Amino acid sequence: MPAEWGNCVVEEFVCRTKIISGSGAVSALGQMGGKKLFLVTDPYFVKSGQAERVALASGCQEREVFDRIRPDPTVELVAEGTARLKAFAPDLLVALGGGSTLDCAKAMAYFARGTYPLVAIPTTSGSGSEVTDFAILTHDRVKHPLVDPRLRPDVAILDSDLLQQLPKHLVAETGFDVLTHAVEAYCAKNAGVISDLYAREAFSSAYAALPASYAGRTEVRLKVHLAATMAGMAFTQAGLGLCHAMAHSLGGLFHVPHGRLNAILLPAVIGCNAHAASRKYAELARAAGMGGSADTIALRNLRNGMIRLRRELNLPETLVQAGVDPRAVWRSAEAIVSNTLADPCCKTNPLEGEAFLVRRILEEVTGRV
Ligand SMILES: NC(=O)c1ccc[n+]([C@@H]2O[C@H](COP(=O)([O-])OP(=O)(O)OC[C@H]3O[C@@H](n4cnc5c(N)ncnc54)[C@H](O)[C@@H]3O)[C@@H](O)[C@H]2O)c1
Ligand SMILES: [Fe+2]
Repeated sequence: MPAEWGNCVVEEFVCRTKIISGSGAVSALGQMGGKKLFLVTDPYFVKSGQAERVALASGCQEREVFDRIRPDPTVELVAEGTARLKAFAPDLLVALGGGSTLDCAKAMAYFARGTYPLVAIPTTSGSGSEVTDFAILTHDRVKHPLVDPRLRPDVAILDSDLLQQLPKHLVAETGFDVLTHAVEAYCAKNAGVISDLYAREAFSSAYAALPASYAGRTEVRLKVHLAATMAGMAFTQAGLGLCHAMAHSLGGLFHVPHGRLNAILLPAVIGCNAHAASRKYAELARAAGMGGSADTIALRNLRNGMIRLRRELNLPETLVQAGVDPRAVWRSAEAIVSNTLADPCCKTNPLEGEAFLVRRILEEVTGRV
């Protein structure tokens, strides 16, 4: 992220989260010296027994489990969780789940202002929330990115054992979220040399491993998991772009999973930003082995590569295919456009976000009934 000091513009890259990765990494919880655990998770992990296993690994005698997380957490849920967290006053806070769980726990810790460490254990390879300054909260059908360095977890545990049962549709959706984070961070206005390194590696590694992960080859899942975290490290510094601004806006209104929306939007956004970011898009295409010596060819290969992969992962191409009524989209078009332009991710898009661009992308992705 560029910072101005006097006459200098320098790149500032902050990496505060301790990252522990590998098969069985959850056992590191036992080294944290906690006695009183507050575990934030969702009902799936309680039912599957994984919440209990994580709680046992912490070695804490006293515990409380807050398992009310649902996809796209609301501010009301955060308020309820914050009250429970303050009343329990733990010495260790652990979040176990996807981006929704991690975001909710981060916001709860932020509002509770406790002094205990927050350990994030992602169970999807997607959001990167375990290393970011973001928490996406929903209020009145609008998704608001809360952005503050105090939201960043102290420890991220990337345990591939938690990914063995990941359903195929989640591999696909959350994997496309990783690709979108990497592409948008690489081309974002605040990108720098260090964030570019993480974004490029995350993109080529996720692009190469996603088909095998989707096909059920669980041995590649740690690779995608690390790519998700690297993409998070990149975008928390560099920012995101129009694809995320539109995905937040549409996700708040229609509750289509976040990664699925990114898959629908990304090729259209690449087309829209083509002139402003052609060199960067071309570099990414080449880094991932899609080739193209001229920038225009490499850019086309990148866009086609995303469309091909989307098809291979059985993701929808339009909002209609994702079950959204096009009449509802056009009835809400004004709100979609204004929420997109107000979203912080829009500010770092390589091209200035404007209403006609958002409408043009909306036309391209809505699809016919
Ligand atoms: N904070 C950030 O930096 C950031 C970045 C991108 C996205 N997000 C947010 O994250 C959310 C999306 O997160 P997500 O894509 O991880 O999905 P999610 O957390 O919304 O979870 C979706 C579903 O997957 C299930 N699930 C999770 N892990 C599983 C596993 N291992 N096995 C079986 N089921 C599992 C959950 O129970 C849930 O029902 C969105 O709200 C999005 O806006 C946040
Ligand atoms: Fe995302």
